[in-house]
Amino acid sequence: MGQSIGVFDSGLGGLSVYREIKKLLPGQRIIYFADHKNAPYGTRKEKEIRNLTIRAIEFLKQKSCSPVVIACNTATTGGIDFYRRKFPNISFVGVVPPIKPAAIGSKSKKIVILSTTATSKSKYLKRLIKWFARDCKVWNFGCPELVEAVENGTVDREKTKSMLRRYLDKPLKDGADSIVFGCTHFPFLSKVIKEVSGSGIKILEPSKPVATQVRRIYQNDQRSWSKNVKILDKFYTSGNSRTISQVATKLLKRGINFQNAY
Ligand code: DGL
Repeated sequence: MGQSIGVFDSGLGGLSVYREIKKLLPGQRIIYFADHKNAPYGTRKEKEIRNLTIRAIEFLKQKSCSPVVIACNTATTGGIDFYRRKFPNISFVGVVPPIKPAAIGSKSKKIVILSTTATSKSKYLKRLIKWFARDCKVWNFGCPELVEAVENGTVDREKTKSMLRRYLDKPLKDGADSIVFGCTHFPFLSKVIKEVSGSGIKILEPSKPVATQVRRIYQNDQRSWSKNVKILDKFYTSGNSRTISQVATKLLKRGINFQNAY
């Protein structure tokens, strides 16, 4: 077996990134690991997030994964440089909120960032806002309940919509025209967000550029990669694989079978 692409998230949000990588590299095996046992990461401290992420990377390393995509903003903003130093032989691709394109593209210069509690408070995010959105009014919300709605497969319930209204009503009334996702779970809420905020709102999320970056690494390093188009992806979780498979199947609208990681 050649090298596989590793994709890691605390839970199912990383499937939004997985889905885009699969579109660009359909013949490449992807190994997905979700650390449900320790999820959510977004309510944890930075040091804990780093330690858990290191364990996840070790799991994917054992399965010959490189690059490893940290398909979790919380884990990326919490320590991507740290993981790069600790695992010099692995190529990492991280996921961060696309604040720069949002600020450039916003006509009203008013943007909303939805992420986890940890990401919303992180130095990394504050720096991105300072560097790239200085000229914008920014609403920076940590929204752990929205992560939960995706994990429970309850994205289109009325309760989720009213949570979204609670965050979005004021900024929208004030003229915000862009919503930036700082959490990989939230692309699964895009449809509901459009329902709540109207189709004129621009949603920015980084899964496509992340997938393009993974393909770039692939193109630079073709020889060590497997070429078998029939190869099957593998999905591992540290949580309850049966329930998780059901929600994942609903999110990706195709059969996804998680197995227990250990
Ligand atoms: N999907 C993760 C992110 O992008 C975090 C969800 C969580 O565990 O809180 O930040």
